[in-house]
Amino acid sequence: MTDIGTSIPSVTVRGPQAPGNTAALDPVFTVSDLSVFYGEYEAVRQVDLSIGNREITAMIGPSGCGKSTVLRCFNRMNDLIPGARAAGKILYHGEDLYGDHVDPIEVRRRIGMVFQKPNPFPKSIYDNIAYGPRVNGTKGKMDEVVEEALTQAALWDEVKDKLKQNALSLSGGQQQRLCIARAIAVKPEVILMDEPCSALDPIATTKIEDLMQQLARDYTIVIVTHNMQQAARVSNRTAFFTADVDDKGERHGRLVEFDETSRIFTNPTDQRTEDYITGRFG
Ligand SMILES: Nc1ncnc2c1ncn2[C@@H]1O[C@H](COP(=O)(O)OP(=O)(O)OP(=O)(O)O)[C@@H](O)[C@H]1O
Ligand SMILES: [Mg+2]
Repeated sequence: MTDIGTSIPSVTVRGPQAPGNTAALDPVFTVSDLSVFYGEYEAVRQVDLSIGNREITAMIGPSGCGKSTVLRCFNRMNDLIPGARAAGKILYHGEDLYGDHVDPIEVRRRIGMVFQKPNPFPKSIYDNIAYGPRVNGTKGKMDEVVEEALTQAALWDEVKDKLKQNALSLSGGQQQRLCIARAIAVKPEVILMDEPCSALDPIATTKIEDLMQQLARDYTIVIVTHNMQQAARVSNRTAFFTADVDDKGERHGRLVEFDETSRIFTNPTDQRTEDYITGRFG
């Protein structure tokens, strides 16, 4: 009898610290042929992309290539911008996110957002967290809801003795974790983050990155970042966007490449991705 043996190739399939295994993508969102317009202007053209369940997906690319525009489509925030319009399809768990029967307010409850600049309400720390659950008519003990959200956002220990204090008295990094806690308090499934660390120092940034990794056990996260090390550190998959200029001189954002983060950063297939990640462009 011949022993053929089995060789199992050793393949790195995810970002260095990222949780979970990205080998098979279990889609929460499936985007096909998405184009986004502001009035007549086509800001983003023909994007095809999937967002994996309980993964961190990073969107990177030069300024103006449409990262925020695409991100805002995931919770229909673009609906709030006069003249903005999305064409193509975004499926959320197989359902058309832009279908007639879909309530955009419920969409935004399930798919929360954290912005570049921390934007706490000018209220107490407690009321910042309790606001969303109260609006949603959450029953049960509000104190527990507040504690749980602050604990998940790794802020509880720092604020538990000053919950009645105004949230604007917190540091920038604490305010951003508060905003993440506020997003979590309404029990979303997905958290969208648009450059959540760009206003923070390196220590606060590390805290938010650690927090993202914790949260990815329970939530699906999509993050826009200009910090490529951050994308490489935290994400499972990366989408690289750029902007093409057409013959009329108009710029249109495009998705160039979407793959496992380790592959995008070590062996991209498109020259434009390689130029961007090696700093030759953008
Ligand atoms: N509210 C708006 N109205 C009109 N045009 C807009 C609006 N928001 C964005 N745009 C345009 O759409 C294009 C993509 O912008 P977007 O903000 O999505 O880019 P981005 O990749 O997020 O850039 P940055 O990295 O600078 O944040 C740009 O040309 C921008 O001017
Ligand atoms: Mg942006």
